[in-house]
Amino acid sequence: TVIVVDFGAQYAQLIARRVREAKVFSEIMPHTATSEEILAKNPKAVILSGGPSSVYEEGAPQLPVGLVDSGTAVFGICYGFMAMAQALGGQVARTGQREYGRTNVSVLEPGTLLNGLPAQLVSWMSHGDEVVREPEGFTLSARSDRATVAAFENTDRRLAGVQWHPEVMHSEFGQKILEHFLFDIAGCSPTWTSANIVDEQVELIRQQVGDARVISALSGGVDSAVSTALVQKAIGDQLTAVFVDHGLLRQGEAEQVRQDYVAATGVDLKVVDAKDQFLGFLEGVTDPEEKRKIIGREFIRTFEAAEREVLATPGAPVRFLVQGTLYPDVVESGGGEGAANIKSHHNVGGLPEDLEFSLIEPLRTLFKDEVRQVGRQLGIPEAIVSRHPFPGPGLAIRIVGAVSEERLEILRRADAIVREETTAAGLDSEIWQFPVVLLADVRSVGVQGDGRTYGHPIVLRPVSSEDAMTADWSRLPYELLERISTRITNEVDEVNRVVLDVTSKPPGTIEWE
Ligand code: XMP
Repeated sequence: TVIVVDFGAQYAQLIARRVREAKVFSEIMPHTATSEEILAKNPKAVILSGGPSSVYEEGAPQLPVGLVDSGTAVFGICYGFMAMAQALGGQVARTGQREYGRTNVSVLEPGTLLNGLPAQLVSWMSHGDEVVREPEGFTLSARSDRATVAAFENTDRRLAGVQWHPEVMHSEFGQKILEHFLFDIAGCSPTWTSANIVDEQVELIRQQVGDARVISALSGGVDSAVSTALVQKAIGDQLTAVFVDHGLLRQGEAEQVRQDYVAATGVDLKVVDAKDQFLGFLEGVTDPEEKRKIIGREFIRTFEAAEREVLATPGAPVRFLVQGTLYPDVVESGGGEGAANIKSHHNVGGLPEDLEFSLIEPLRTLFKDEVRQVGRQLGIPEAIVSRHPFPGPGLAIRIVGAVSEERLEILRRADAIVREETTAAGLDSEIWQFPVVLLADVRSVGVQGDGRTYGHPIVLRPVSSEDAMTADWSRLPYELLERISTRITNEVDEVNRVVLDVTSKPPGTIEWE
């Protein structure tokens, strides 16, 4: 394990991901953790993240006392670099000059950290203070315009650091530098692979479950598909997966779950066809929050009924529920272990608190891209594994206006065209999410053939994002937009206008409702 100590900016998760890309397992701990707590994890190395503070600020976060003298390999980044310099007896000065964004770094002495890299690197910086003298016994490895000391190392003590952010995409050779630290300074081995994750989780699930029965809710999304498949691999027919088909998924998605997923994983799937029930309760409802409430409530009802049937099997004293909680959820809710930090059952619309299940969360240590890798390892169809995030209430919140089967069908057809064309253009992985929205209560005049039309607009809402908290509209090629627009207006009779949403989040949200 490598421990990434989080000094409070958004970088810790990115660093943890980069370490894992080097096939080394990493975990994040808050900067308030003590050295004892960190060393109790028996880490091969510790990485100190960047952070928003100045080391001079009142109450600035401190390095865990004694960490740099513990003999553990430590790598400091940005704020972590300065805090490390200070703790080791180097000198940090407040220069009042900020260095921000793209910066040229000059390599002075490559040593181990910068071994084999060019003499000049473009790196991404974000700092106000500056290290002006490296700690005694350390090699001064690089400098930049505003940083007299931009990198240092002491390989005997297995300590090193850089002022810039090697974890961000814009820093040249960033991954190389991290790997030099991990492999050549700290002595880590690249053994953390999706095959190993699967083996390890299968073993853990078997131990946790014993011969009890387990139930899982499949939503059609990646996380529930992968967590369910992992549990299936571990305990086979002790698991029943329940798929509540609320009729609000996109074209082909329910079939992919019912057929392709089951064929690939062998999961015992109980499909509850609840389309009429959901549509019935949604009839005439236009308020987004009201839609969400109805869908959440009906989901719980349906799931509970299915659950009672499944668990009616005698001789199964303990009940387990599979949940696709991911590592970012764990980190963001405090990073602790156990059930106290678990978010409400966001994906499936909020399970009631009085359900007495123990949770199985096999994805608790994984980032989204790793979940996808594990899914591929488990043979889950690519169409499911590479799905973009999709809201639990589904297409109901992409129809502005009341939901009806007819409107759902219009939206499904338009959405299918968008997905087809985006995939054909090879842009799926660059787009975070691509909601297609039907303005069902809006009509506009158009002309098609010789006739006047009075149809509905479809809104395209492609966004790029890291975590859905903030987002920017995707700059899609005009040719792609043109193809989508032409096809939708030709192939979906009820639609005579296609518009593009060019709002970032904030102020807009990703979804329209
Ligand atoms: P917004 O629209 O708030 O969306 O920018 C942020 C992310 O959350 C998804 N989303 C939902 N997911 N139930 C869900 O499970 C919901 O009610 C819901 N509303 C929005 C949205 O698709 C985006 O990924």
